[in-house]
Amino acid sequence: VDHSAFKPTGKLVSLALHGPPPRLRGLSGLASVFSSRTSRKSVSRAGDDNDMEEGEGYRNPTEVQMSQLVLPCHTNHRGELSVGQLLKWIDTMACLSAERHAGCPCVTASMDDIYFEHTISVGQVVNIKAKVNRAFNSSMEVGIQVASEDLCSEKQWNVCKALATFVAHRELTKVKLKQITPRTEEEKTEHSVAAERRRMRLVYADTIKGLLANYAIQEDLDSRDCSCMVPAEKTRVESVELVLPPHANHQGNTFGGQIMAWMENVATIAASRLCRGHPTLKAIEMFHFRGPSQVGDRLVLKAIVNNAFKHSMEVGVCVEAYRQEAETHRRHINSAFMTFVVLDADDQPQMLPWIWPQPGEGERRYREASARKKIRLDRKYIVSCKQAEMPLSVPWDPSNQVYLSYNNVSSLKMLMAKDDWVLSSEISQVRLYSLEEDKFFSFHLEMVVHVDAAQAFLLLSDLQRRPEWDKHYRSVELVQQVDEDDAIYHIISPALGRDAKPQDFVILASRRKPCDNGDPYVIAMRSVTLPTYCETPEYRRAETLCSGFCLWREGDQLTKVSYYNQVSPDILNYVTTNVSGLSSEFYTTFKACERFLLDNRNDLAPSLQTL
Ligand code: COA
Ligand code: ADP
Repeated sequence: VDHSAFKPTGKLVSLALHGPPPRLRGLSGLASVFSSRTSRKSVSRAGDDNDMEEGEGYRNPTEVQMSQLVLPCHTNHRGELSVGQLLKWIDTMACLSAERHAGCPCVTASMDDIYFEHTISVGQVVNIKAKVNRAFNSSMEVGIQVASEDLCSEKQWNVCKALATFVAHRELTKVKLKQITPRTEEEKTEHSVAAERRRMRLVYADTIKGLLANYAIQEDLDSRDCSCMVPAEKTRVESVELVLPPHANHQGNTFGGQIMAWMENVATIAASRLCRGHPTLKAIEMFHFRGPSQVGDRLVLKAIVNNAFKHSMEVGVCVEAYRQEAETHRRHINSAFMTFVVLDADDQPQMLPWIWPQPGEGERRYREASARKKIRLDRKYIVSCKQAEMPLSVPWDPSNQVYLSYNNVSSLKMLMAKDDWVLSSEISQVRLYSLEEDKFFSFHLEMVVHVDAAQAFLLLSDLQRRPEWDKHYRSVELVQQVDEDDAIYHIISPALGRDAKPQDFVILASRRKPCDNGDPYVIAMRSVTLPTYCETPEYRRAETLCSGFCLWREGDQLTKVSYYNQVSPDILNYVTTNVSGLSSEFYTTFKACERFLLDNRNDLAPSLQTL
């Protein structure tokens, strides 16, 4: 929407084009597959330092690598690497990377969703890389990339990527981790987006609870063919494990990877009981290690098929721990939901029988599994879809609000972290940068203003004040205050160029305060669609994919204000007119923004105190 703010006036201003020399860039290689939006099918050889972007010799100091030859003892009956074994390696790698950064013992706090793209066969090599994306207070986000390699053909595949949170523990004292300084473009992106992912993770349980409560799942049990139904009870599994020293770390705490492997084992048995075949695990939903367990604990693992869809099923697993001497005192330490498919000889998913749930708890889980499936599909689409494949406007509804808001902020942060921004022009210390990519053209404007960053953030994040400085915002209506930091606005702009009709936009604006000192304040905007605000004949509906402000505190009463915009096709002409120096409209509008900030820098809004 903000592109409307930068309409050309036709006034000619000549600007010097003096971008910095192009940076020396290595091959992107594995670096790009760490990015949460990339899903390349082939990757560079793990072990090559292809992801160096800071010159020869650079290697992320927290990075650890492992290569394992897959032997028969690691495989299931299909001759494929068992996911349980893979999870143990993933957790070990992530733990080593976390401990390398923390310098003290670390435990797994959570694991984000994992989608398995490929199975790994006996005789192949699995290459695992892990590095710390960001350290917060006592916790860290670790990114793990798994690839497989066929030694005979030299072919390589991405298997999955995982994001784990580890918490550092030192006896008696609370750990304050040192910060990570990202160097490459990929590290900067991951570092920046990690803060947004953390936000989503910490509200995950509540989000899912809220969503499940709001879903009205159709009662379809009566319409199903009873002849091919399997009672859920038949799939129930219960198994106990004794935690021995080889299952634990040097502190005596059970390895998270070991628990995940045991969970995968019981889930696979439950899934096999439904399909009477060999199921393949496709996805694990995000989960949280609720509490520790130690050597000597007994872990009771329970699993059952919650629901079976046409080609996939959801198996739920829950884990309780107890000591021998207090068997009745069971601690619930974990629950997870796993999606399995059954593949035929051509690797196509087979049809599955329906499930007949137990009345009561079973029916509740059956309904919740359907809701989780919908949430999972929505989330996968919004969170992991490549920007170029996504329509500009995504329908907004309460069920995807958390993910759209995440997508909104992370898209802007990814745009900010790009390495190839080129300084196109500078007038009176307002700098204009541009970025040319395969499918997109983006620009950003930057200036330093004598105003406090928190105050600038408040003033700019209230879009209803935008018409005060931006003449291209004719009116702004707050449609819905979604939560404290997210709001939907309907904006009307005057007609563009020779267009007879004024434009309107429906946008989601998401604002974020800094997670730590090095972070900017962010105000991200993207178009959404709302059934109550459909396109009308009165206005031409316009859209923005990714735009917004980033504000860096440069000192007391000194803020670097940057405005970013990934240009949508309808305004390309206006933007290129400005970028090529044929108009000074960007400059004029940005200067008006500065004036607005200076004029209002002493308005003490009550909420400023909380920033
Ligand atoms: N996902 C990611 N991080 C989480 C989280 C979750 N679901 N819940 C808490 N955290 C993070 C917090 O953000 C905080 O990070 P910060 O210090 O960087 O701000 C950190 O964990 C500590 O949070 P706090 O609220 O003080 O602790 P807690 O009481 O929630 O305990 C654990 C968190 C992980 C330490 C605790 O649940 C635990 O011991 N779990 C078992 C860990 C374990 O043993 N794992 C191996 C397998 S058993
Ligand atoms: P919820 O019941 O809300 O799904 P829980 O944490 O209690 O959450 O359980 C997680 C999953 O573990 C359940 O969905 C179910 O699939 C499985 N599960 C829980 N209890 C049992 C049990 N007694 N027997 C078999 N499976 C169980």
